[in-house]
Amino acid sequence: VVEVLTTVGAMRAALSEWRRAAKTVGFVPTMGYLHDGHLALVRRAGQENDIVVASIFVNPLQFGPKEDLARYPRDFERDSKLLEAAGVTAIFYPDASEMYPPDFSTSVEVSRVSEGLEGGVRPGHFRGVATVVSKLFNIVTADKAYFGQKDAQQIAVIKRMVRDLNFGIEIVVCPTVREKDGLAMSSRNVYLSAEERRAAPVLRIALEAAARLWHEAPEQRNGENLRKIMQAVLDSESLANPDYVSAADPASLQEYAAEIPSGNGVLLSLAVRFGATRLIDNMLIEG
Ligand code: PAF
Repeated sequence: VVEVLTTVGAMRAALSEWRRAAKTVGFVPTMGYLHDGHLALVRRAGQENDIVVASIFVNPLQFGPKEDLARYPRDFERDSKLLEAAGVTAIFYPDASEMYPPDFSTSVEVSRVSEGLEGGVRPGHFRGVATVVSKLFNIVTADKAYFGQKDAQQIAVIKRMVRDLNFGIEIVVCPTVREKDGLAMSSRNVYLSAEERRAAPVLRIALEAAARLWHEAPEQRNGENLRKIMQAVLDSESLANPDYVSAADPASLQEYAAEIPSGNGVLLSLAVRFGATRLIDNMLIEG
């Protein structure tokens, strides 16, 4: 059976035992309410490491005051069964007081890549993510950590942080896992009404329209055209309220203005609200 460790001390003790036995460790950080996207990360970690640790922690620091922390979906029983079946060795499952003592005072801020897109709409979000991921990487000292491409800006922020602060961990990015109709899997999809759920694949359709323009009309490849075509697809769906559409440099996340330097790729990304539910998706086209 999968081991459930709720304290930093117990997690560290398990790690030193695995290290003594010269085991490699893969780490999958999550906020729980797992879907097939998370389980794909776990399976990949299992292929590449002797030991797989998953964490489940709904991190209060990365939620804004008006966001969905209190109603964020939770189901530890179900999650632990899924993780066990997917081959996880141990689950790190701390409570908020274990992670944040009352006088907790430190935060990790990754400037620039944190600022636009999700960071622009959700001020402080990536400070919360970078802070908790630093803590988790210091507690679960793994060889590799696994993240989904779905959160493209989170990956850019974490990669930059790992490089800048010399964390000795390799970041492995895994493809977004989708429902049959193209909707990216997300723990937040459960909030959608039936009607919103039917409309939600419009995110993927918008990204595909921009990708088609990129591949089929290279002379029209510029930031403005790519954003315009995504916006037009979203405008055709009355339930979709876009927060942003973006065509940006994949490493710096700087928005492309007009011309895209030849040889550069593009990160197409968007955030769209359906009622009170906010969905994100992206597509990375390599240069
Ligand atoms: O991607 C997530 O689920 C969270 O942002 C993470 C990386 C677990 C940090 O809380």
